[in-house]
Parts: sequence; C-alpha cells; structure tokens
Amino acid sequence: MLFGRVQVRRPEKSLLLTGLRGVGKTVLLNRIEQMALAEGFRTILVEAHEGKPLAVLLAPHLRHLLFDLDRVKAAGNKVHRGLGVLRSFIGAIKVKVGDLDIGLDIEPEPGSADSGDLEVDLPNLFVAVGEAAQERGAAVAILIDELQYFSTEELSALIMAMHRMQQRQLPLVLVGAGLPILPGLAGDSKSYAERLFNFPAVGPLPEADAARALQDPVRAEGVAFDLDALHEVFRLTQGYPYFLQEWGYQAWNHAAASPIGSDVIRATSELVSQRLDENFFRVRFDRLTPREKTYLRAMAELG
Ligand SMILES: Nc1ncnc2c1ncn2[C@@H]1O[C@H](COP(=O)(O)OP(=O)(O)OP(=O)(O)O)[C@@H](O)[C@H]1O
Ligand SMILES: [Mg+2]
Repeated sequence: MLFGRVQVRRPEKSLLLTGLRGVGKTVLLNRIEQMALAEGFRTILVEAHEGKPLAVLLAPHLRHLLFDLDRVKAAGNKVHRGLGVLRSFIGAIKVKVGDLDIGLDIEPEPGSADSGDLEVDLPNLFVAVGEAAQERGAAVAILIDELQYFSTEELSALIMAMHRMQQRQLPLVLVGAGLPILPGLAGDSKSYAERLFNFPAVGPLPEADAARALQDPVRAEGVAFDLDALHEVFRLTQGYPYFLQEWGYQAWNHAAASPIGSDVIRATSELVSQRLDENFFRVRFDRLTPREKTYLRAMAELG
C-alpha cells in the first residue's frame, strides 16, 4: 500500500519497524523488499554497522541505481545531474572518512551536496536521486536494517532527507528496522519524525501464527505436529520467533515419525535450552558491562 501510494505521488509515511532482537525484523525487511520489487520499485537494501558511516554505506548503491536509471531511455538530464551530485557528495565525505573510491568518472556538481554537513548534503542528494527516478518513471525503496547504529547526526540527516521527499512528493521511500530505542533516537534528533514515519512494533507471534510457522514448513514435507506439541512449543517460546525456529529445528531432527508429539518437544527442550545458552544468550551476555551483568543476575534471581 505504501508502495502503491508513492508511485501515484500520494504522500505516505515511511516505515520504521521496531522490535527486540530475534523477533523477525530482518525477515520482514527482506519480505518487504520482495513486495517493493513486485510493485516495480528499484530497491537498495543495506545493513548499518557500528562504525560504518551512512554516507559510505549508501554511496555505492546510489551510484549503481543511477547508472541503472541511466539505461532507461527518457528525455531529460536529471540522471546525469544525480550522478554529478553524488560525485560532489562523495568528494565531501572523502574529506571526512578517507578514501572512498567507487569509480565515478563524472564531473561533480559544485555546491549541490558538498558542504560537508550531512544534514544539508544528504537531503540534497536524495532530492537529486528522487528527481532522476521520477524523470525515468521509476520509484525507489531504500531499506536499512539495524538503523539504531547510526549517529544522531546521521539519523537526523536521514529524517530531513525523507522530509524533503515528502514535501516534493518524490518517488523515494525509506523502510527501516531497528531496536525499540529507535523511535526515541529519531524523536530526539528531529521532533517531526513522528509525522514522517510509522513505527510498527514487531513482537512475538500470537498462538495461531506461531502454530503456522511450525506447521506449514513440515506440512510441505508431508509431516505434521500434533496439537499438544504446538501448545507445548508455544508455552515454551511464548511465540518468540527465534525460539520457534530453534524448537522447530530440533523437533524436526529428533522426530522419528509423524505426527510429531509433545513427547518429542519435551525430549528436545534440554538441548534447545543448552544451544540457546551457548549461542543466543552467550553472545548477548558477553557484550554487557560488568554492572549490566550484575543487574541481569539480580533480575534473574527474582524469577
Ligand atoms: N514470522 C516468523 N515466523 C517464524 N519464524 C520467524 C518469523 N520471523 C522470523 N522468524 C525466525 O526468527 C529468527 C529471527 O528473525 P530475524 O533475524 O528477522 O530477527 P531480527 O528481529 O532481525 O533480529 P535482530 O534484531 O537480532 O537482527 C530467524 O531465525 C527467523 O527464521
Ligand atoms: Mg535483524
């Protein structure tokens, strides 16, 4: 729906999916990319990292996109201008982040996105890209995972860029995903963020959906879980997608026959817990500060 509205130049809020680790944000983001592609959008899907600047992350993809648009035959010079703006944008961030050679043999557009201030340059760059897309009758979806890793300045620049897209009704949408701190971060950096974005919360699955997540894949192989087994997995996982995945995986490997009963679930629970402790909880625990570990222990002791 978002994609359809953007194509016909109706204003629509961009989406920022938020949820805890392992609830399925990345899976959803990939699915949304497929939906955008099916609607005829060009897509860019990137994942933010600690210590990787937004500009460096996006520039190569925007270059690729503009070259791609250049192959669509239409009158006008906006694509060429877009490349020039990208070129000057890269020139400006080079000063800050060191060499970024993405091979762009094009004259820069002086004064368009090279102030060195991301909150000015990124919106200008997005406008140039949006206008290029519009000229070629195309629409663009930029999908960014782990958005919370960006700095306040980068988030703010991104929000301002999307503000400009909306004001000018350019065919460029943003779909992001991040931890639940994201709306707060976005709100801190720009108070009008809430008017630009929807923040759908991604959480645990309801029991019926959790059952389908387990049942559909095994059904495709001619196997089934019985109802007790499904209840038992839901009781243990509370519909948390990553845990469903783990219990489903072990149950599948240990079941000798179909239907898979709750006895199989109980027999594998020990192993699943062990695997979660060694992997899922381990990596998260290791990243905590000593005081956070103490805090966790205190909470755990309260049951
Ligand atoms: N709707 C769903 N039904 C069943 N399983 C799911 C669903 N969505 C995600 N999963 C499973 O849950 C696990 C975690 O999903 P995903 O990686 O998308 O979470 P995430 O929210 O991106 O986590 P993180 O914040 O750690 O990146 C995956 O193994 C995936 O297979
Ligand atoms: Mg993820």
